[in-house]
Amino acid sequence: MTGSMAGRAGLVTGAAGGIGRACAVRFAAEGASVVVSDLESARAGGEETVAMIRKAGGTAEFFPCDVADAGAAEALVAHVVERYGQLDFAHNNAGIGGSNGRLADISDEDFDRIIAVNLRGTFLGMKHQIRAMLGNGGGAIVNTSSNAGLRGVRLLSPYTASKHGIVGLTRNAAVEYADDGIRVNAVCPGAIVTPLMMRGSPERALEIRRPQAMSRFGQPEEVAAAVVWLCSPDASFVTGVAMPVDAGSVAGW
Ligand SMILES: NC(=O)c1ccc[n+]([C@@H]2O[C@H](COP(=O)([O-])OP(=O)(O)OC[C@H]3O[C@@H](n4cnc5c(N)ncnc54)[C@H](O)[C@@H]3O)[C@@H](O)[C@H]2O)c1
Repeated sequence: MTGSMAGRAGLVTGAAGGIGRACAVRFAAEGASVVVSDLESARAGGEETVAMIRKAGGTAEFFPCDVADAGAAEALVAHVVERYGQLDFAHNNAGIGGSNGRLADISDEDFDRIIAVNLRGTFLGMKHQIRAMLGNGGGAIVNTSSNAGLRGVRLLSPYTASKHGIVGLTRNAAVEYADDGIRVNAVCPGAIVTPLMMRGSPERALEIRRPQAMSRFGQPEEVAAAVVWLCSPDASFVTGVAMPVDAGSVAGW
């Protein structure tokens, strides 16, 4: 297939549904070979993403990975390199929400779990992806942060901390590997219609959406357009950015 990602190979984590699925589908539509990854327990959704890509004429396969598991993160990268010869792009998208509560009411376990998946998971992924990209002379990484990575979101302190941390990892890796041909960026979505956003009450979803200048929820495909652009050669001079895709949410009110 032709497109802005033609001839490239890479991976998307948390791609059994939601934003990750939309990104995997868009990468493939732009000509990339995509390893669709998610938890083994989400295999059915992952295989569905693969089927959608293949039906449209693209190349994809499922490979399970719990991003919080260091060995699994390494195995995922090794699989892409073994299968396609190199890793050109990686989208670290897997993430979890957590229970709502003011900081002093958050359990230590909840905090640790969210940091382990969202922040440590992104770190582990980037570490092995960068090592592989150094081997092929460059590449592009996009991490899914959130507008909760750019400002506080009431009642979500562990999530907010994890997403701010992702912005920090993104900026650091961008400056450390710029001259190795590796670009590292983050997207910071606003309120997007996905299982994660809709798992809570409709009132809470509306509350999260309220700071947006546009009074509607976003679609996963609107995030995918930004993610794929950031990985494409069209963004060749862009690294270290935390790009809001949030309908004006962090711009002001
Ligand atoms: N939906 C939104 O409004 C919104 C806004 C800002 C940021 N985000 C971020 O976007 C990303 C995708 O979220 P989504 O809204 O599509 O949610 P989602 O729940 O639909 O998708 C998240 C995926 O991550 C997977 N996952 C969870 N834990 C994992 C682990 N340990 N290892 C591998 N995969 C794991 C899940 O199985 C799921 O398929 C997340 O990082 C989320 O924090 C979402």
